[in-house]
Amino acid sequence: MAQTVGRPRTWEAWREEFPVFTHKVYYNTCSLGALSRRVAEAVQKYLQQWDESGAAAWYGPWLGEIEAARASFARIIGATPEEVAIFPSVTSALTAVSSAFDYRERPKVVLSEREFPTTVYQWSLKTRQGVALEMLRTSDPLTVPLEQYERAVDDRTRLVVASHVYFTSGAIQDIASLAGIAHRRGAHLLVDAYQSIGQLPIDVHAAEVDFLIAGGLKWLLGGPGIAYLYARREVAQHLRPDDAGWFAHRNQFGFDVHRFEYADGARRFEGGTPSVAAVYAGRAGLDIVEEIGVRRLRERQMELAEHLVEEARSRGLSPRVPARLTDLAGIVTIPREDPKAVVAALAERNIVVDSRPGLVRLSPYFYNTPDDGARAIRALLELEKRGIR
Ligand SMILES: Cc1ncc(COP(=O)(O)O)c(C=O)c1O
Repeated sequence: MAQTVGRPRTWEAWREEFPVFTHKVYYNTCSLGALSRRVAEAVQKYLQQWDESGAAAWYGPWLGEIEAARASFARIIGATPEEVAIFPSVTSALTAVSSAFDYRERPKVVLSEREFPTTVYQWSLKTRQGVALEMLRTSDPLTVPLEQYERAVDDRTRLVVASHVYFTSGAIQDIASLAGIAHRRGAHLLVDAYQSIGQLPIDVHAAEVDFLIAGGLKWLLGGPGIAYLYARREVAQHLRPDDAGWFAHRNQFGFDVHRFEYADGARRFEGGTPSVAAVYAGRAGLDIVEEIGVRRLRERQMELAEHLVEEARSRGLSPRVPARLTDLAGIVTIPREDPKAVVAALAERNIVVDSRPGLVRLSPYFYNTPDDGARAIRALLELEKRGIR
């Protein structure tokens, strides 16, 4: 698609970058971002380098691409590249971080039942090693009120773990206030930003976040196999993860089996060889996010989400969203009795959404249009008439 020099691409032109829209209403970025031509070409380039250069690709373009992905993610969150580590999944990043603390003096980890399960499992399994888990339960279906954290975090708390955007509601948590709550009691804050980075502006230094995790496959448009960990420099420097590999060694290519010395910064959490194909895809996805700019992405998305909520309400549906739509990211949930049947019936109509227990999730991103939302809502109502609800 030709670009007019000096002017940002139009949203229609961006939509053409994603071939899926020629035949589907793709409305499911909160599960998986759509595939762009740019990402497909990047993976093709990686295959070509492998074929043409063999192992020499490692020391040339491949290590360079890993560093480029690290730097791009760092720019998006307002960090430095030294504060970013690369992993194949968020779970593996969490395993490294959770292995790094001494829980003896401060055994408590505070998190909530609104978190993504893998985050909870990391620390609930560590109760065998003396971690005292405080799981916040809440009657609020969308978020976790800050007062609950205020009450739970004390001077025995090592870590507070919370989502920036909740995966079952799209509600935005106030992470700067959470950082304040954690720090006043001498605890650290780890933010699960998987559902926010890309669609919401964030400055990790200004918000005083200690750790942040995110993955490539949703709002960062890079497909599965790549995840990122931000670790604040001053905090990371004092930690010694048990779960680290040769990429975490200060002199990785010294192959010294007698002495392990941690690399500076976030690299000390890394494990083994990254999945290079995923790094190529991930970097190309980040490139799109940077080219558009997160602020513009957020503006576009708020417009689309508001339009979707109005459309649903005007047709008698009850989307489950926060009272102020500025507290909502790009996930709009609609309660349904049999969400899986609804998702399957919509898929037959080439409308791609997904479900979580009791809910259908619709997630607009910049490449969607108001008409995508209107079509999805019309289809939901048609299904309702046929008893699929
Ligand atoms: C909010 C959130 N956190 C964590 C994860 C898990 O990430 P991974 O599968 O990379 O471990 C997901 C995956 O969908 C998620 O949505």
